[in-house]
Amino acid sequence: MSKKAWGGRFESNPESWVDAFNASIHFDKNLIDQDIQGSIAHATMLAEQGIIEEAESKQIIRGLKEIQHDYYQDKLELSESLEDIHLNIEHALIQKIGQVGGKLHTGRSRNDQVATDMHLYTKENVKSIIDLITSLQNAILNIADEHVYTIMPGYTHLQRAQPISFAHHVMTYFWMLERDKSRFQDSIKRIDISPLGAAALSGTTHNIDRHRTQELLNFQNIYENSLDAVSDRDYIVETLHNISLTMVHLSRFSEEIIFWSSNEANFVTLSDSFSTGSSIMPQKKNPDMAELIRGKVGRTTGHLMSMLVTLKGLPLAYNKDMQEDKEGLFDSIHTIKGSLRIFEGMLTSMTVNTERLHETVHQDFSNATELADYLVEKNIPFREAHEIVGKIVLWCIQNNQYLLDVPLEQYKSYNEKIDANVFEYLKPENCLSRRKSYGSTGQESVKHQIKVAKALL
Ligand code: ARG
Repeated sequence: MSKKAWGGRFESNPESWVDAFNASIHFDKNLIDQDIQGSIAHATMLAEQGIIEEAESKQIIRGLKEIQHDYYQDKLELSESLEDIHLNIEHALIQKIGQVGGKLHTGRSRNDQVATDMHLYTKENVKSIIDLITSLQNAILNIADEHVYTIMPGYTHLQRAQPISFAHHVMTYFWMLERDKSRFQDSIKRIDISPLGAAALSGTTHNIDRHRTQELLNFQNIYENSLDAVSDRDYIVETLHNISLTMVHLSRFSEEIIFWSSNEANFVTLSDSFSTGSSIMPQKKNPDMAELIRGKVGRTTGHLMSMLVTLKGLPLAYNKDMQEDKEGLFDSIHTIKGSLRIFEGMLTSMTVNTERLHETVHQDFSNATELADYLVEKNIPFREAHEIVGKIVLWCIQNNQYLLDVPLEQYKSYNEKIDANVFEYLKPENCLSRRKSYGSTGQESVKHQIKVAKALL
């Protein structure tokens, strides 16, 4: 068994199954790059401050780089009894360069070290999530550009409500993602803070320069309070929340795509490369990618809840409970990055069945509000108009007709003021073009919306 870094005051070591429970190496090895980066900055600063010799610092840095290289060559032996990535690296360093490796931990603790790693890791990943969101927004914009004039039924309560532009519908997700992105962007200022040099909890008596490591690690800001520096996990909760909400948005869009691609709707056809088949039913083509994304919200929401509960009631400063912050964060980041990539591929390869959509809006009553508005224009109070149209719709249902098929005489029997121009008025495309209110589904308004959106990217 390897000797523990903290072995001095111990008379015996835990058994291996206890070590296994305590260890985080199987997941915090993910932090190797950040850990090496943080250690290089710390070693550089220690030499600059005269705390260690320049030559020692160089030796340490060379050793750290070799360890990183070994790791990617699968040559670094990681052990559970060395607990975590920090102690495994320190052990490997001492083996490589001798006792001088033990000087690296001067003026530092694993508590500020792990916090530094997590800040660096979260910052880097939040930035790539932002890029992936932008890429998906671009894909949505391209679809919107093509489908300003494609009309589809708009729903409320999953009942046909009013005709809308397909572009208008998909653009809703552009705006949701825009808000998600701005939440991620805003969170960076609370992530990009250097805890390094806070040491275990109280700072250190060594003459370290925290501002120098802040600068070397390219952190925008620095923790003013050493206790706060090692205890803060707010930025992890915030990131888990931002991921969860973005995943919720993707799940709503997924649900629509699942419905749209059903035989019943047939509004879109998913490409073969983003669908799967059934092992028993040869005719099936399933929207598995959309379903998986919808399903994965369970885990991202779970990780958020789990982190909140882990932190609840946790006293200052570091407590081992905090080791539980990693797996959830790693998994949520992995999940959202995969989901954003898959979603974009699924969307850009999907076919919008414009003819079917056209046919659909001609076979429903989603133009009923228009008929009421038509009567309002003839100076009939809206409530009365609503009642008249309700009766006409009932007649249609009983006679198996739609509003565009009702004979003019029949219309006139409900109200004399209805003229032959009602048929033009009720055409779904005209329902859209008459909508001129700002942000509406009218074609001109949607074009303006797309222009505003493009300017944001
Ligand atoms: N593996 C630990 C974690 O992930 C690192 C910090 C350990 N610090 C300590 N004082 N035991 O939280």
